[in-house]
Amino acid sequence: MCGIVGIISDETKTADIIDSLKKLEYRGYDSSGIAFVKDGRIEVYKSVGKIEALKNSIKNLLDEKVEVGIAHTRWATHGQPNDINAHPHTDCTGKIAIVHNGIIENFRELRGMLEALGHKFKSDTDTEVIAHLIEEEYSGDLFEAVMKAIRKLDGAYAIGVIHSDHPDMIVAARKGSPLVIGIGEDTTILASDVTPIIRYTKDVIFLEDGDVALLKKGKVEIYRSSGEKVERRVQHINWDESAAEKGGYDHFMIKEIMEEPMVISSAMTGRVRSGRVDIPEIKEIDFSKIRRINLVACGTSYHAALFFKYFVEFHTDLDVLVEVSSEFRYRKPHVDKDTLTIAISQSGETADTLESIRLAKRLGSRIIAITNVVGSTITRESDISIMMNSGPEIGVAATKTYVAQLTVLLLLGLQIIEQRGFWAGRHEKIFDTLLRLPEVFSSILDSSDRIREIAEDFKDYNHFMYIGRGYGYPTALEGALKLKEISYIHAEGYPAGELKHGPIALLDENFPVFAIAPQDSLYQKMKSNIMECRARNAKIIALTTSENRDILQVADIILEVPKVPEELYPLVMSPVIQLFAYHVAVLKRHDPDKPRNLAKSVTVE
Ligand code: G6P
Repeated sequence: MCGIVGIISDETKTADIIDSLKKLEYRGYDSSGIAFVKDGRIEVYKSVGKIEALKNSIKNLLDEKVEVGIAHTRWATHGQPNDINAHPHTDCTGKIAIVHNGIIENFRELRGMLEALGHKFKSDTDTEVIAHLIEEEYSGDLFEAVMKAIRKLDGAYAIGVIHSDHPDMIVAARKGSPLVIGIGEDTTILASDVTPIIRYTKDVIFLEDGDVALLKKGKVEIYRSSGEKVERRVQHINWDESAAEKGGYDHFMIKEIMEEPMVISSAMTGRVRSGRVDIPEIKEIDFSKIRRINLVACGTSYHAALFFKYFVEFHTDLDVLVEVSSEFRYRKPHVDKDTLTIAISQSGETADTLESIRLAKRLGSRIIAITNVVGSTITRESDISIMMNSGPEIGVAATKTYVAQLTVLLLLGLQIIEQRGFWAGRHEKIFDTLLRLPEVFSSILDSSDRIREIAEDFKDYNHFMYIGRGYGYPTALEGALKLKEISYIHAEGYPAGELKHGPIALLDENFPVFAIAPQDSLYQKMKSNIMECRARNAKIIALTTSENRDILQVADIILEVPKVPEELYPLVMSPVIQLFAYHVAVLKRHDPDKPRNLAKSVTVE
């Protein structure tokens, strides 16, 4: 995820700004840049690749004292990672420089409007429109101009703006993307999180959505975007740098699970218009002409793909084929020009998925990639890419990216349902609930402590059986995968109805069952399967719908999620299975971020 730094001080050298930016490296980035005011002019330097490359490009200026500077690590969303698209971006006069984290949804409209007024754009980014908008609104007062400009923005942003005529200030604004301000004795510093700030001060202000801040040396004033002045609490933090990178959590995995409400919002940003799903990336695809959909993916991404098959086949007349990429690539699949292939891959680099894309292409299929990394190999080899926009995931076991994949796939499924003429009241309900899910997720994440208590009771078992039916089946597979990969407990994911064809022979009091059992259309069937397990003395953890008293008859432990349309249970149940695996792993003293033998990006067969 992009990182922002801004510093005002009498003592700051450009090297200090770069060092502060380095503290944000852990967030992941593809390019970086810096802008500062020197001799009354803005100077901008940018570089694709590591911050070290940026540092090298300003070797001669590193000892230069600057009054004010901003810097940025970019994680591409609009436009390829290259020097031109890297931040900071400037206006036509070169007097304004801006860094931005987030996505401006209406940037195309704004760019058109600004170009019509004569503004010349240099990059492909959404960010550059903000620089030109501020230029358009500017008449001597930078703060006023930023205020007016942000009122025209739709979407999410955290910005830092400087102007060569105002070397004593940075104007910052936040909506949807985080920003923190630290006020040290001689230095005022702005950043995406507290990591770069700690070196200067541990007294920080977390800006709230809708805040606009005027930073000067040793002080800050905060206003609402409506103009009203507000006071924000100064918080003292005790984190060291390593804790700060993890947002105060013990591991990246838990931090990333806690980011899931935001991840759902970002995956939906720009893809919902006038109360309908409207994914701009696929506007040229006519889904009414497609005969079948073919999905290829590995690991967690495969589980997301399986969900999509259940969803789209249930609600349309389309055939949806799903296969793990390592099998698909060596078979003779029935894929042709009427088949749309969708490759799902958080990393965008998985070798088997890439080869599957190549095979599907040779067979005449069009390829859509759903991935989290702009510019990754899979995006380059696909016809269309739909980005997950989750920000980098550092924990090796996919968590927030799984949630983003499910969100994007639900949106895509809904768009297909509409285009093929199957839209009905049920879909309206799914859609409306999906829009509310960030809130619902926050309430589910509040149950983390209770899940830890349950994990404590179950951590010493050597085996686990995860079972589910219908939409619960991909969730059972993913639950088992999460547990085995980070806690090293043997776990199997099975369709509940298949148990009696073999695996039930394993069950006894030492082999607990994690049952995915929401009160959906298959609940009674699922309950019978749970009873079969219980009859073999297996302990049952049931993940069900809140206020389901009926399950008490068959389960030892109950975990609940709010009632939602059944198509959304795979999404709302994800944090629960992830948190369970996380707590078991931590209680067993394993590092959940770096499970043994596994890699985040599997670029070999
Ligand atoms: C690796 C990761 C998994 C991921 C799988 C597929 O094994 O550790 O978390 O699910 O690769 O990766 P992809 O990047 O293609 O989604």
